[in-house]
Amino acid sequence: MCGIVGYAGNKNVESVLLVGLICLEYRGYDSAGIAVFDKGDIEIRKEKGKIKALENLLKEKPVDGHIGIGHTRWATHGEPSQINAHPHTDSKTSIAVVHNGIIENYQKLKFQLQSKGHVFHSSTDTEVIPHLLAEELKAGKSIKDAFLNIFSKIEGKWAISVLFEREPDRVYFAQDGAPLLIGKGKNEYYLSSAIEALIRNSAEVCYTKNKEWGYFTKNELAIFDFQGNPIVPEFKKQELKWTEIDKTGYPHYMIKEIFEQPSIFRKIIEKRMNGGYELNFPEFTLPKEILSRVTRLIIQAAGTSLHAGMIGKHYLEQFPKIQTDSEMSSEFVYRNPVVEGDTMIIAISQSGETADTLAGIYEAKAKFLKVISLVNNVNSTIARESDAFIDMLAGPEIGVASTKAFTAQLMHLFLFSLYVASLKWMIPEEELKALLDEVKLLPSKMDAILNKASIIEKWSKDFVDTKDFVFLGRTYNHPVALEGALKLKEISYIHASGYAGGELKHGPIALITSEVPVVCIAIDSEIYPKMVSNIEEIKARHGKIISIVNEGDEQVKALSDYCFEIPKCSEVLSPLLTVIPLQLLSYYVAVARDYDPDKPRNLAKSVTVE
Ligand code: G6P
Repeated sequence: MCGIVGYAGNKNVESVLLVGLICLEYRGYDSAGIAVFDKGDIEIRKEKGKIKALENLLKEKPVDGHIGIGHTRWATHGEPSQINAHPHTDSKTSIAVVHNGIIENYQKLKFQLQSKGHVFHSSTDTEVIPHLLAEELKAGKSIKDAFLNIFSKIEGKWAISVLFEREPDRVYFAQDGAPLLIGKGKNEYYLSSAIEALIRNSAEVCYTKNKEWGYFTKNELAIFDFQGNPIVPEFKKQELKWTEIDKTGYPHYMIKEIFEQPSIFRKIIEKRMNGGYELNFPEFTLPKEILSRVTRLIIQAAGTSLHAGMIGKHYLEQFPKIQTDSEMSSEFVYRNPVVEGDTMIIAISQSGETADTLAGIYEAKAKFLKVISLVNNVNSTIARESDAFIDMLAGPEIGVASTKAFTAQLMHLFLFSLYVASLKWMIPEEELKALLDEVKLLPSKMDAILNKASIIEKWSKDFVDTKDFVFLGRTYNHPVALEGALKLKEISYIHASGYAGGELKHGPIALITSEVPVVCIAIDSEIYPKMVSNIEEIKARHGKIISIVNEGDEQVKALSDYCFEIPKCSEVLSPLLTVIPLQLLSYYVAVARDYDPDKPRNLAKSVTVE
């Protein structure tokens, strides 16, 4: 949510910043801008819309320089517009600021500054920062003291980068609760909100921590804490490959990531099962004794990660038999849940930066609870703030609508549940082996589904003008129905709701008409006959049935208008397969409706504000 970049070196800064912003565009794309030192002056270019619009502006009005900062915005305060686009400046344009996050007390600060004569142009919270800094400098403070003073005044979770006209050789940065990374090249430093902008240019990266700030020139980097004490930067080798964040021939990241799922599963199986039956999570540092003592778990997450958590609840209750709740982070934080000493929190987050989930972790810590997290970015704030983390091994996910992260989360929740069950001697060895044998078959079953993607692509044309969709599933597949509905809403803007099949008759059935397609997940299970009854009820009301069934199912097929067969597998593992046709459906419907599935309106991949 909002991406920041910065650069000091010998290259043309305009193109360095543009390339960086394109890499971060998934974090927000309603406006973009840069500030550059051009012959000693701060030059600003900003434009409403995607980065392409900024690129076009720069063609008309280029800037020339080697030091600068940039921003791609997801609007929080103030509509998407040229005026609200970052960078923001003080009244003399001697200070330029880009910002990610929220300054919660900005109204109060704005009133104070206005009463001292400061004039504001935008509706953003960000604009108070250059004015606050200007006020400090006007009072004769050094830049260092100006920063230290304003840190105690601004509230919220944020990251900023700043140019000061009086120091045209350097880029300043600071963060308290939003990610900022520094990349080191040869005679150059880069700044970015996320690793993607640093892969091509930085051999080493330094992840700044909360309440750190500093500056870099092309040859020098200095980091301090919020008391002004120097911090020694810790650089790590940057190991991601460019191909991991490239579309590699696919038209969109989303479809690339859907098709990556079998290879991710092969990697997960190899890493977690060592080719046999011994489960291992080497990065998970929580002592086994603590884990086996846990009597209650609360999973807290948002969006797609929450849907994975809802299935994780089933796994953790079924295998290690630990009472588990799954909750929206944004509700968990504010409802003061009853917890006992041996309750543990599991935070699930693809990005590892979701503000709601992070707030849930702080809430849990305030209650002295242990927190473990399942993340796709082991250098993220959530991984850092947890007592232990598990890497979901999905590789960078760029498509805003999460796909491969969901199945990787599910797989890890499943394997982790088996691991805890074996620690607690709750699962017979034969059962464990049989389940893991089935896991090993998942990649080829996923391949079989993906090989039939063209069937769903063909169907999608029939839904270009559809206004409403309903998704139904039961037990393990109820959260999959929620996920299918979420995916469709997110990228094709068709209203869709997911329900547990049994709830249909308690209200949602009122929605059913011949205009409403109902996606029914009806795979082999104890509950299959009940799902068949639900389908009959829909059929009786002329609803269009799109069914997901196991190969060889004739009963539901006969009732369906569209039927997609998936390979047979046990119910407990079925969500890992049933979700794939739903991902494909949402993707192809969005494309058929001519929307960009990688940049859905109003959404951002990494939601770093509460
Ligand atoms: C945003 C994204 C969703 C994602 C959710 C949680 O809303 O648009 O796709 O599921 O955040 O993100 P996380 O990174 O914590 O899994």
